[in-house]
Amino acid sequence: MPVQILPSSEAVTEVSCDALVVSAFQSETGFELSTAAAEVDQALDGYLSEHLKDLSFKAKQNEVASLPTMRRMGSKVVVVVGVGPHNEVSDASLRTAAGAAARRLGERKVIAIALQEGRGAGAASAVAEGMVLASYRYTAYKTDPKPAKIEQILLLGEDGSAAERGAAIGQAVLLARDLINEPAATLTPDALARRAQEIAAAEGLTCNVLDEQAIVERGLNGVMSVAKGSDVPPRFIELAYTPERATETVALVGKGVTFDSGGLSLKDGKNMETMKTDMSGAAAVIAVMSVIKRLGVKVEVRAYVPAVENMPSGKALKPGDVITHAGGKTSEVLNTDAEGRLILADALAVAAEGKPAAIIDVATLTGSIVIALGNDIAGLFSSDDALAAEIEAAADEAGELLWRMPLHADYRRQLDSEVADFKNIGTRYGGSIVAALFLKEFVPDEIPWAHLDIAGPARSESDSNHGPKGGTGVATRTLITWLEKRGR
Ligand code: BES
Ligand code: MN
Ligand code: ZN
Repeated sequence: MPVQILPSSEAVTEVSCDALVVSAFQSETGFELSTAAAEVDQALDGYLSEHLKDLSFKAKQNEVASLPTMRRMGSKVVVVVGVGPHNEVSDASLRTAAGAAARRLGERKVIAIALQEGRGAGAASAVAEGMVLASYRYTAYKTDPKPAKIEQILLLGEDGSAAERGAAIGQAVLLARDLINEPAATLTPDALARRAQEIAAAEGLTCNVLDEQAIVERGLNGVMSVAKGSDVPPRFIELAYTPERATETVALVGKGVTFDSGGLSLKDGKNMETMKTDMSGAAAVIAVMSVIKRLGVKVEVRAYVPAVENMPSGKALKPGDVITHAGGKTSEVLNTDAEGRLILADALAVAAEGKPAAIIDVATLTGSIVIALGNDIAGLFSSDDALAAEIEAAADEAGELLWRMPLHADYRRQLDSEVADFKNIGTRYGGSIVAALFLKEFVPDEIPWAHLDIAGPARSESDSNHGPKGGTGVATRTLITWLEKRGR
């Protein structure tokens, strides 16, 4: 059951709920209560501020304290979350503050929240989004799952539409997380395609799935070559959102490797442990598509998801093999573990055929980007400064971290091949850049293109204010924000 978000005009002290969340600001003297927190303090005869002082509460960003209300208010408990100094409060900081508070709510089901206090629609949306993100758990395989925690969020003093937007975006991210966290045994390329079809039917999108035969006929030989070592067949998923009077068409591409064993260039056990998440790019793209109609995005969006399982077998792709990709360019496969670029090559070529105004691909493409930027930050590569700036601004607004990386043209030489147009690997160094340069070969120069290497942040190694350990659904929120802004 998705969390229900309801606007409410009830007074903070009267609203009936399991927990009331209010904010406090950091100040020179320690903390300063927000208007709502001050009302609570008054209802409790000053005991809230007394208690916070006693705890040496500073109202630092995401600092949380709670106090039972002894039946003197509608809420059973009041949770105060710090949002830092007044002048540093932003939609993004309120989003994490909401998440920080949500983590401390235990099993409480009905939550009233007054964090956004007159900060406008962006803040209301961010707060709702933060609560939804933090409420996520993956329970599909728990025999005794803890009941869903938060069931209802009453957003005090707001009209509902902004909160609904935030909640809808949050739900889209949770959809991505569910897809990512599902084991590869059941989330096969075909299962992913069926999920995309269900979503398209429910959300008013068009969906076209190419099966093995159609993939061969269409010449998607990168997809076919990676898939052929596996017992499960590949799928090529196309989703389209076509609003009336669309201002332009843009394309999204997501890497959908439902399991990456490395193929014959087999990974070791440790490196394979998390490889069910190698379809995180696909999950983000499908999640974006699932919600943009409801958000009223103004641009037409075409999404392309090559979905395969990368396995070793007697039928598998071999080092030394040559692939003729969609569009005719050839690659020499020297490492079958560099499979993402082989399937994305076909997808980018197909996306480019429609001459979109921009193409963005999202992929857990290289371990190298994790070495460069660590687990929290995605790499942004783009041939177009304006597009890169748009994506940076969208990520900033969405509260996702990315860093622009150079498409250093000289490294392209590393891909020179004696037998084909290019090899699929370069040297050990700068591997994420070389991978991006490989992808660039499949996008015509005149189409603005960007590539997000999300191998680091696609999966979180620990619980955070935005959700638990596991698939994060990263890039979903940045792409949605980018699409919303694009049509304005
Ligand atoms: N799916 C991996 C990249 C990856 C690594 C994602 C770690 C998430 C966490 C990708 O297919 C891969 O194996 N890349 C190789 C490329 C190399 C063989 C050139 C890599 O980065 O090691
Ligand atoms: Mn691989
Ligand atoms: Zn991979």
